[in-house]
Amino acid sequence: MTYSVAVSGASGYAGGEILRLLADHPDIEIRTVTAHSNAGQPLIQHQPHLRSLARLTLQDTTPETLAGHDIVFLALPHGQSGQYTDALGETPLVIDAGADHRLTSQGAWDDFYGGAFHEPWAYGVPELLVGGVKQRETLRAATRIAAPGCNASTVSLSLAPGVAAGVIDPGDIVSVLAVGPSGAGKSLKTNLLAGEILGSANPYAVGGTHRHIPEIRQALAAASGGEADGIRISFTPILVPMSRGILATSSAPIAADASDAEIRAAWEEAYGDETFVELLPAGEFPRTADVLGANTALIGLAIDRAAGRVTVVAAVDNLVKGTAGAAVQSMNLALGLPESRALSVNGVAP
Ligand SMILES: NC(=O)c1ccc[n+]([C@@H]2O[C@H](COP(=O)([O-])OP(=O)(O)OC[C@H]3O[C@@H](n4cnc5c(N)ncnc54)[C@H](OP(=O)(O)O)[C@@H]3O)[C@@H](O)[C@H]2O)c1
Repeated sequence: MTYSVAVSGASGYAGGEILRLLADHPDIEIRTVTAHSNAGQPLIQHQPHLRSLARLTLQDTTPETLAGHDIVFLALPHGQSGQYTDALGETPLVIDAGADHRLTSQGAWDDFYGGAFHEPWAYGVPELLVGGVKQRETLRAATRIAAPGCNASTVSLSLAPGVAAGVIDPGDIVSVLAVGPSGAGKSLKTNLLAGEILGSANPYAVGGTHRHIPEIRQALAAASGGEADGIRISFTPILVPMSRGILATSSAPIAADASDAEIRAAWEEAYGDETFVELLPAGEFPRTADVLGANTALIGLAIDRAAGRVTVVAAVDNLVKGTAGAAVQSMNLALGLPESRALSVNGVAP
């Protein structure tokens, strides 16, 4: 069976990456692409790397253009998806790359986003531990999927095994992330100009204001089986001059009686059988260059007894494993297809 697909936000970075992955998916026919200010223009003008999709023209994003497909991907600025999801009741599978359907707590939504709160959907991170099982079990039956925030899924995947096994204390997590500007989208912003970024590392959303914080707390609370109140995280992203990629360094105190073997076993058991999340051998740490274009999260783990903390370094391509790859992997699960179809563990280098 071939599934018909519409991708909204197709002129943007996330929409473009969803299209790149779907273009090579044997079970998918990309029928409709939509945009906003660029509607009416050829897709190829905005995504010149997507040569095989040159036939497509960007249409207006309306409930009518999105309706009538087997699958709809929404890759819109946060706050925009809800108006379309309400009108897509007949669509068998809807996957939102935005934040609108990620949070279960309206209070957290009000504090970090504001505007209308929409119901939470199945969270699109298949490898995440949730109450002793993997999130993929939920995704297999899902018809509505919220793809993750890129920073949020990177940090959640980094720490969920330790939190779930009780070998780290989730009440004192510190995460510092080097992130590329594509994570902030394609629209023009002064702080993202080459003149502001090249040759500089620029911190932003310092001091507990970044919108991915409640998503991480929610995911780690689900991993631990506890409440989000028990997850405290200091989260600091730093914009660095690489177009794609996230290098997240997270640490948390070692739980009182956890041995080195128990700590490492938590991550080995969580990810030993996973295709797209890989724990590197002891002493090895990932680089963003190793995951560019790949649906891979590479994780390095250090046990720092002097500091009394576990340090986890994770590298992810924000546009693949951080968004579009997670969305396509979740789609495969929901359709009952092989989970890794059209996704690669291999990146591009140099
Ligand atoms: N970039 C990432 O690494 C990343 C990672 C995870 C999640 N996400 C999420 O994915 C979503 C899209 O992000 P992005 O980085 O792709 O942003 P982007 O590059 O700025 O693209 C935004 C897209 O949405 C369209 N759009 C803007 N306003 C709209 C409106 N009012 N109604 C309908 N369409 C509208 C734009 O169309 P025009 O170009 O025609 O104006 C464009 O196609 C966001 O919710 C973001 O949080 C992004």
